[in-house]
Amino acid sequence: MNADQLKKIAAEKAVEWIEDGMTVGLGTGSTAYWAIHRIAERVREGLSIRAVASSIRSEQLARELGIPFVSLNEIDRIDLTIDGADEVDDNLHLIKGGGGALLREKVLAAASDRFIVIVDESKLVGTLGAFPLPVEIVPFAERLTLNRLKELGGDPAIRTNPDGQRYVTDNGNWIADCRFGAIPDPAGLNEQLNQIPAVVENGLFVGMASVVVASLSDGSIEVRRRG
Ligand code: A5P
Repeated sequence: MNADQLKKIAAEKAVEWIEDGMTVGLGTGSTAYWAIHRIAERVREGLSIRAVASSIRSEQLARELGIPFVSLNEIDRIDLTIDGADEVDDNLHLIKGGGGALLREKVLAAASDRFIVIVDESKLVGTLGAFPLPVEIVPFAERLTLNRLKELGGDPAIRTNPDGQRYVTDNGNWIADCRFGAIPDPAGLNEQLNQIPAVVENGLFVGMASVVVASLSDGSIEVRRRG
């Protein structure tokens, strides 16, 4: 099975958790893409839900596919959010934001009764940190903020698009991708990063995942729950 098929299997398994009447958070990325497609299929089959999205592109996809949509400011809580991740460690802590949507993703995850993470086996790691940690920063304070990230050992690089222009998030900010190497204390680093004034958020999701649905290379599914 190729990587895309594995992403699809994990995504479709997670969509089984959705029930009539739920408010559902839609993630961002190539795995969440499959979840959104499967949710749309279930809506066509009669499932009654409303959705909020963690990015403009997921919102556009959901609307195109006919998923009933509400803005985040019309709701007070989310029943269940389904989203991908770049890394998942043994304690179900995550690195997210490879697709640049980490701030809205964290807002949705924090407002959700259940946060279901969908990955293929390649994202499962013992310790976070091989994947560069995305940190969303305010452009006004780029230089000072990069200095602070360097002091923390992050070796930051501002993310650019293929045309060389800076990548701009849905919130009008920039992303500094930080190479910390192994992150043995994600909770501590999360706190240190968010104390830097022009850091809006970072891609460490500590203790937020309720369930991780991982597709293994043989096509089977492993479900890990937070203890
Ligand atoms: C988007 O900002 C990210 O957090 C994605 O959820 C994460 O990068 C996983 O993306 P893929 O499913 O495309 O690997």
